[in-house]
Amino acid sequence: MNHNNFLEKIVIIDYGSQFTQLIARKVRELGVYSEIINSNQIRRLKKNKSIKGIILSGGPLTITNKNSSSLDNRILGQNLPILGICYGHQILAKKFGGRIKVSKTREFGKSFVKSILKSPITKNFFKHRSNQVWMSHQDIVYKIPPDFKKIASSDNSKFAIISNEKKKYYGIQFHPEVSHTINGKILIRNFVLNICKIKKRWNLKRQKAIMISAIKNKVNKDKVICALSGGVDSSVVALLLKRAIGNQLTCIFINTGLLRQNEEQEVLKIFRKKLKLKLIYVDASKLFLKKLNKVTNPESKRKIIGKLFIQLFEKYAKKVRKMKFLAQGTLYPDLIESRSVTGSTSSKIKSHHNVGGLPKKMNLALIEPLNTLFKDEVRRLGLQLPLPKAILLRHPFPGPGLAIRIPGKITKEKIDILKEADFIFINELKKSNLYNKIWQAYAALLPVRTVGVMGDSRTYEYICLLRAVTSEDGMTADFFYFNKTFIQRVSNKIINSVNGINRVVYDVTSKPPSTIELE
Ligand code: XMP
Repeated sequence: MNHNNFLEKIVIIDYGSQFTQLIARKVRELGVYSEIINSNQIRRLKKNKSIKGIILSGGPLTITNKNSSSLDNRILGQNLPILGICYGHQILAKKFGGRIKVSKTREFGKSFVKSILKSPITKNFFKHRSNQVWMSHQDIVYKIPPDFKKIASSDNSKFAIISNEKKKYYGIQFHPEVSHTINGKILIRNFVLNICKIKKRWNLKRQKAIMISAIKNKVNKDKVICALSGGVDSSVVALLLKRAIGNQLTCIFINTGLLRQNEEQEVLKIFRKKLKLKLIYVDASKLFLKKLNKVTNPESKRKIIGKLFIQLFEKYAKKVRKMKFLAQGTLYPDLIESRSVTGSTSSKIKSHHNVGGLPKKMNLALIEPLNTLFKDEVRRLGLQLPLPKAILLRHPFPGPGLAIRIPGKITKEKIDILKEADFIFINELKKSNLYNKIWQAYAALLPVRTVGVMGDSRTYEYICLLRAVTSEDGMTADFFYFNKTFIQRVSNKIINSVNGINRVVYDVTSKPPSTIELE
């Protein structure tokens, strides 16, 4: 049974925006199901009574280019309310006779829109006459179609919101889905709940049921190997798979030697003993260290680690008959940061090991059930499974592990020093009840040695960097503000108990411009 055919839903047509999944997330937060269809696959858009409205996403394309696509008649043929956002707004206006041009002044970032006319789309949106929004466009609509009205405008976009109330078509030049647009959620809510009149029937319980049934359909009688790291994401995937396919699942845990202190013992205890999962344990610490010997480039480290992981998964998968799939806990932000959404190289930030680090040719097909979700949603899904709180509330830990927290050359000596320092920092956070207030915290070992003095003697040892950030989804982050006593205590403990470190520094950069990890 395909549960989603029975749910009233919004269809989002994706024209390649980095924010398409954010639109889907905002719709989910309203308690409504949504499905994303790539703009090249509009033929998949069949008439279906459960579709109640269509959202056209933004995108990197420029509509003033002669080759740009036009709004497909199959979308209009649905006779449903339509909300066009940014590129979607322009494509909607153009279809009905509006005019678009390249603006002399681009509009990127903060802007203000003024209310011109009342409309159901802006109900409760304008608390004052103007409202802060987030723009990201170069083309503008300079003439609206004859049967559309101007609802709001900004300095640069005369037609920032337009509507055809009779047909229930709405165009918005800015991005209501990003948090920098004040009250952006209200615009989406007005469209979804008031204009499309969808009932709130969507929740994580249903999401879980849909995921489980999708996994069952995909796997059928074959077998799946699940890359388990002991972190939240892969643990949620493992439990979802166990629910879906039971014994057809085998988990594999690879000790890369780049894990946190005592990690391997804890993972084995929880997953084998407590959760009763079939689990292969592979100690590959020597192999990882050998392959990373003398490697200093961050992307090379990530690629080497990604490749080794896959080689090991494939090696062990071969030992099981009918093993066809590899499941992993890739999240949506991993995908956006690892892949260039626009096709340009500039938008790729780093190769998250489970995405960009994968070799081009693989013998196993991928199952990534969480690849449209954000971390906080995965945590809430985990509660439904249920996954023990000790795992659910753990800070994220990257697949490449300590390798990307030791900039420069990696040695066994450095790994051991770092494990000890990190353990002290995390333990102190827990003791002071700060661990759950922080999104992610860790220690890193900088590849620089500096001079110190201990007990009248000169020391020449490494610098330990501490990082602690708050974040909602890992896409943006801010450093955590510790009081002096706490940070002093951690610094003293690290220097007094870890041989090899004589200086501790705290990272006070946010993301952007930095990233959470050092590499
Ligand atoms: P950055 O450093 O990109 O990290 O700001 C954002 C979040 O992603 C985690 N991260 C990874 N997770 N494989 C993972 O599973 C990876 O290769 C990887 N790189 C970064 C990072 O720890 C943070 O939570």
